[in-house]
Amino acid sequence: MLLSEFSLLAVTASVALASPVHLPSLIQSREAGVYNASNPNITIFATGGTIAGSGSSSDQTTGYSAGALGVDILISAVPQLWNVSNPTGVQVANVDSGSITPSILLNLTQQVQTALDDPYCQGVVVTHGTDTLEESAFFLELTTSSEKPVVIVGAMRPATAISADGPINLLEAVTLAASPEARGRGTMVVLNDRIGSGFYTSKSNANSLDTFKATEQGYLGWFQNIKPIFYYAPALPMGKLHFDVMDTAELPQVDILYGHQALNPALAPAAVESGAKGLVLAGMGAGGWTDGGKEAVEKLIAENGTAVVYSRRTMDGFVEPKGSIGSYGGGFLNPQKARIMLQLALNAGYGDAEMETIFESGSE
Ligand SMILES: *[C@@H]1O[C@H](CO)[C@@H](O)[C@H](O)[C@H]1NC(C)=O
Ligand SMILES: *[C@@H]1O[C@H](CO)[C@@H](O)[C@H](O)[C@H]1NC(C)=O
Ligand SMILES: *[C@@H]1O[C@H](CO)[C@@H](O)[C@H](O)[C@H]1NC(C)=O
Ligand SMILES: *[C@@H]1O[C@H](CO)[C@@H](O)[C@H](O)[C@H]1NC(C)=O
Ligand SMILES: *[C@@H]1O[C@H](CO)[C@@H](O)[C@H](O)[C@H]1NC(C)=O
Repeated sequence: MLLSEFSLLAVTASVALASPVHLPSLIQSREAGVYNASNPNITIFATGGTIAGSGSSSDQTTGYSAGALGVDILISAVPQLWNVSNPTGVQVANVDSGSITPSILLNLTQQVQTALDDPYCQGVVVTHGTDTLEESAFFLELTTSSEKPVVIVGAMRPATAISADGPINLLEAVTLAASPEARGRGTMVVLNDRIGSGFYTSKSNANSLDTFKATEQGYLGWFQNIKPIFYYAPALPMGKLHFDVMDTAELPQVDILYGHQALNPALAPAAVESGAKGLVLAGMGAGGWTDGGKEAVEKLIAENGTAVVYSRRTMDGFVEPKGSIGSYGGGFLNPQKARIMLQLALNAGYGDAEMETIFESGSE
């Protein structure tokens, strides 16, 4: 029943909303019959992605159009949401996650923080494409401040696919955001019946449903019949900082360079030339870079004030402190998360000592 409902909605859906549209009144009036004032109020911020994706047939699971369905359709397609919450939908963007920009991220986190500060809101859900979900999760983790849960959710199969995972993922995400047990845990990632830390979780497989993982740090919990069950008492990751970006309109450009045999040392100055204020190096092993590559990077640090974070191209591991001005070890952060941290640190005007502390000590 859900599948056909979702497919029907997909066919009748109006396509890609160009600008953010606020829809709470639409959703609440449509569902007025089931509004329950004693349920937790959960705000769902939609940004697009596969969870809002529409394909041309039920067996199409690649090459579909991401971000075709609006948040009102996502919410209406899962009536069980009204049994666990009073959901309110806000359309922030409707794009595939590769097209999320710093300005969308800033707008999102500012709206999320405002919702978290509202005494009548008990939790927040963000729907997002999966490809860069880990970056937005990390960004929300570092830029929001509240005991209330922030849950980021996506789907691996478009809404029109047979066995689409979006509806159950959304229901689990909203149930989690509405749960008192979820308080004090920062930003969490929900897919495939698992709850992951927004700080550590990464996409590990380009296609499969069980793609969101933190191999070393593990999951925080899972879902039993839609109910969240946690393995641990509430805790925050080591090194979780808070950057206030409520008045920030843009973030500095930080580029990532990938390490490999015979890497081209000219790419680092080219990135700085085109506007990068910082570089993240996805190094070989524990942050290894070639001699020629290092020389080019050290020149940029000395002459151009470029900040450089050494990370790693391997899935897991620790990159230790570099001990020289302007270059830092990325610790446990993968390159895409280190990039977000460096953008926020540069935006906050951090100097060498503060950079060393946030990247290398592993704690505040
Ligand atoms: C409204 O929600 C409360 C708390 O979740 C529940 O106990 C109650 O049965 C609900 N009322 C209706 C009419 O569904
Ligand atoms: C909501 O809960 C009630 C009572 O448990 C149940 O009868 C109803 O089917 C549920 N509605 C949905 C949409 O799951
Ligand atoms: C987000 O962007 C929308 C559309 O440009 C704007 O109306 C809204 O005020 C912005 N919100 C914040 C918190 O910046
Ligand atoms: C949910 O929001 C409504 C106003 O829209 C408010 O009356 C109600 O008290 C809120 N519920 C909770 C649990 O905060
Ligand atoms: C770095 O600074 C030097 C000295 O000011 C300047 O000549 C050079 O063009 C700069 N390099 C880049 C890539 O901007």
